[in-house]
Amino acid sequence: MPTFQLQINGESHTIEADKDTPLLWVLRDQIDLVGTKYGCGIGQCGACTVHIDGVATRSCQLQVSQLQDVEITTIEGLSEDGNHPIQKAWLEHDVPQCGYCQSGQIMTAAALLKNNPNPMDKDIDSAMDGNLCRCGTYIRIKQAIKTAAKL
Ligand code: FES
Ligand code: FES
Repeated sequence: MPTFQLQINGESHTIEADKDTPLLWVLRDQIDLVGTKYGCGIGQCGACTVHIDGVATRSCQLQVSQLQDVEITTIEGLSEDGNHPIQKAWLEHDVPQCGYCQSGQIMTAAALLKNNPNPMDKDIDSAMDGNLCRCGTYIRIKQAIKTAAKL
């Protein structure tokens, strides 16, 4: 089986896998980074969102062979101790309900603020549009992003 060298949360990992193995499986099954969730597996829900060179990306849609020479960041690597402004604001607004979608929501929101530190409502709506939440936490997510922008 081929091997691949991946940079994940600042560490180098040697991965043995078929070349078309989705990054999501590698993260969860081989590296035990289970904060990134499997929702739909077809790029439609956002639960599996990670950062690829800072860009919010669906890890279920990325093949391990596409990821040489990029920096992958998962929810576990977003901050050292949960002190990213998005994480603080999520706590302040008590955003999660069941929590399943929330690592994907946080990763998408963090990428938004990195590119646009003071997003308008339409920017937030546009960036968060593909991240589904069956519990309907959308209003708190939006409030928390606005709070994080001020932190
Ligand atoms: S599991 Fe990847 S977008 Fe739903
Ligand atoms: S908090 Fe339950 S799916 Fe979003």
